[in-house]
Amino acid sequence: MKKLAAGNWKMNGNRAALAEVAALLAAHPAPACEMLLCPPTTLLSQMAALAAGSALQVGGQDCHPKASGAHTGDISAVMLADAGASHVILGHSERRADHGESDALVLAKTEAAIAAGLIAVVCLGETEAQRDAGDTLAVIGAQLDGSVPATATSANLVLAYEPVWAIGTGRTPTLAQIAEVHAFLRARLTAHIGAEAAKTRLLYGGSVKPSNAAEIFAVPDVDGALVGGASLKAADFGAIVAALAAA
Ligand code: 13P
Repeated sequence: MKKLAAGNWKMNGNRAALAEVAALLAAHPAPACEMLLCPPTTLLSQMAALAAGSALQVGGQDCHPKASGAHTGDISAVMLADAGASHVILGHSERRADHGESDALVLAKTEAAIAAGLIAVVCLGETEAQRDAGDTLAVIGAQLDGSVPATATSANLVLAYEPVWAIGTGRTPTLAQIAEVHAFLRARLTAHIGAEAAKTRLLYGGSVKPSNAAEIFAVPDVDGALVGGASLKAADFGAIVAALAAA
């Protein structure tokens, strides 16, 4: 499987930030890994136009479970695909916290994304209190069980392990902790989708930066990264892409 360097711009970036995309493409026209950026929806179609014909894929950061209808402010998976998205991030811990998203809602969104032809990047992760209580694998297992649909395959699903306490904090789990969770995710996913699980990309996310990317990418069962802050600058994200391509 080709590994995946994915960037989540979150609620950051205006049109001027598209210059970073041009710089990224100039520096990394044909990396040996996949490259994905998920900008705010306002920039999606412009970024998709910039990326057309290049190695860069673009994605959304959320979608509604329905294809259309009276849902003010929401965006459907069909609309993301129409705007040029190939992927959509779902169940990010910031959405679970800010919008009270449940596993059941993430499951419905994941089914909608797959039905629209998108690749769902489903995020899982424990809080610091859950890790301290020794509940990490139980929490992540329940999130996986509750949000991975029966229709998932290695071609339409990516899982991202993002410990909540590592997001935007500069703190990361030990390499052994990442290895433990990723091996657990691979096994648990196998119980759901069988042999497809071996080919499904499992990303690590949470304070990935150029200085720690190579050691994280050397961990077994880490098939790429979901990068927040360091994806906003072409130089930083490009260094992470290069580290993954060399892994
Ligand atoms: P940071 O890389 O800024 O810690 O964010 C990680 C993340 O939440 C990506 O989805």
